[in-house]
Amino acid sequence: MDTAAPEQRVTMDEVTALAKRRGFIFQSSEIYGGINGFWDYGPLGAVLKRNVKDAWWRDTVELRDDVVAFDSSIIMHPLTWQASGHVDQFHDVLVDCKVCKHRFRLDHLKDTSKCPDCGTKDSFTEPRNFSLMMKTQVGPMEDTASTAYLRPETAQGIFVNFKNVYQTARKRPPFGIAQIGKSFRNEITPGNFTFRVREFEQAELEYFVPDDGKDMAAFQEWVDLRKAWYSKYGVKADRLRFYELTPKERPHYAKAGVDVEYLFPWGWGELESIAHRGTYDLDAHMKLSGKDLRFFDEANKAHYTPLLIESSAGMDRTTLTMLIDAMEREKSVDPNGKETERTVLRFHPFIAPVQVAVFSLARNKPELVERARAIESALRPKHRTQYDEGNIGQLYRRQDEIGTPFCVTVDYDSLADGTVTVRERDSMRQERVSSGGLEAFLAERL
Ligand code: GAP
Repeated sequence: MDTAAPEQRVTMDEVTALAKRRGFIFQSSEIYGGINGFWDYGPLGAVLKRNVKDAWWRDTVELRDDVVAFDSSIIMHPLTWQASGHVDQFHDVLVDCKVCKHRFRLDHLKDTSKCPDCGTKDSFTEPRNFSLMMKTQVGPMEDTASTAYLRPETAQGIFVNFKNVYQTARKRPPFGIAQIGKSFRNEITPGNFTFRVREFEQAELEYFVPDDGKDMAAFQEWVDLRKAWYSKYGVKADRLRFYELTPKERPHYAKAGVDVEYLFPWGWGELESIAHRGTYDLDAHMKLSGKDLRFFDEANKAHYTPLLIESSAGMDRTTLTMLIDAMEREKSVDPNGKETERTVLRFHPFIAPVQVAVFSLARNKPELVERARAIESALRPKHRTQYDEGNIGQLYRRQDEIGTPFCVTVDYDSLADGTVTVRERDSMRQERVSSGGLEAFLAERL
């Protein structure tokens, strides 16, 4: 689905350099040379990702009375993956060039007659299936009976528990079950930083609706809600698109599908898939397990299998999107009239890892340090705060680079008149605010 990207303001090199420099994202096991397809989130990245997940959870679960929470195990009974079709069908088709030995995904080759790397004609091996399922062993015996899989999606944990959940939560369709958790896929070509990785987190909503003719309206409603969600947290509308899958592009059982895509520096990439999956998933588990997962409708005294609308978003991809989308390099003029350039992350306040930074103008003035520290600890229960001290210009630069919406500086005037300087990230405007009014000032803006 890639098309040429119009010019972007930041490059991936700039994003990855900033992510490392400021402690957002590190290569996993870096001291051993790293491991392809795995990443670690540093002190700021861990908070950023948590905020992204919290934003999803708050809007999808907490603020709705028709969605309940769920948290299933990563390793499930292996038959789960037989029923879902993953064991038989979840693979990529690969070919190797017999001359240069390079390996390719067949669906990534524009021309299958000639190797794109060494240019040799008719050099490919026969296509072979490569499973994306990560295998492991459960228990002390390493035989086939102990083979299990790390889940490639969180959704199946919800499907096999459908009856447990609707009975205990006393819910009737339309209602949803939501889960955020790790998934694993043995991707053949991980890449584009944290975009395609082998261990990632998904936020999945499985919304069950009755077969009453309103299912397509429910599907559209979720597409609209998801659109509103990205916009609420500031993702730029012109870098986001909702691509409607054609009948050929979606699985045979799916009635509708929309991919949410973001315009990354390398082109369009999928953030989320929204699908109308009919009764496919519950049917598959009922068939293999022999257990009845249908819903009993008291009103009609009849069982039925609800239809499923699924929204499945990648939290690592969304975190990366927030980072890239927020990042800007801009020229500005410093207080001495000198032109400078700054890098700024214009995070939405809910997403920003640090919301308020409090500075003491000087390191070696105990009265200033004490006052600034007291202000910071008073704000800490309400906002994500950070204390720092030293050269104010450098401190602002650092906070701009990590996307902190407000900086508060305690200076000598603060000791005399009790005011502080509040500097706003985007406009760089500074105003004096009384210490007593600071909490209300920030609460209003955050
Ligand atoms: N239950 C449906 C499902 O898993 P999917 O389109 O295969 O659908 C949903 O995955 C989302 O999970 C993707 O849109 C993407 O954001 C994320 N995702 C999938 N594979 C990924 C990978 N290798 N690395 C990072 N995120 C991935």
